[in-house]
Amino acid sequence: MARPLPSGLARAAAAARRRAYAPYSRFRVGAAVRAEGRIYSGCNVENASYGLTVCAERSAVSRAVFAGARRLDGLAVASGTSPPTPPCGMCLQTLAEFAGPTLPVLLLGARGSEERTTLGALLPHAFGKRFL
Ligand code: THU
Repeated sequence: MARPLPSGLARAAAAARRRAYAPYSRFRVGAAVRAEGRIYSGCNVENASYGLTVCAERSAVSRAVFAGARRLDGLAVASGTSPPTPPCGMCLQTLAEFAGPTLPVLLLGARGSEERTTLGALLPHAFGKRFL
């Protein structure tokens, strides 16, 4: 059972989605992480060289880490789909670097659709430093 997330995180993800730079896919995503008491948000940033695209989740994590945070306590992702879009595999692996399997994840989508899950449910067999 996922722990409840404060609505501030959801609001931050929705606000970040409005900043998405997605002229190629038109698929706008916003994400917000809570880390060590603060909220860091990010959006997807695409590139004409498509493979250089950075997802919303990874931009939010980068901002948290750049600010000095190392431990994530919550994630919200805002997309325009129903059911709501989950983080991609690359983003799940990035999240697993800074959070454990109990990380609460709130997915927000079109027409008020909402899903609550955890990082462990989305990435049950994470690779991590214990294997190195
Ligand atoms: N995208 C994200 O920002 N997060 C995800 O978890 C899924 C995909 C972005 C990347 C790209 O800009 C667009 O959505 C379509 O793949």
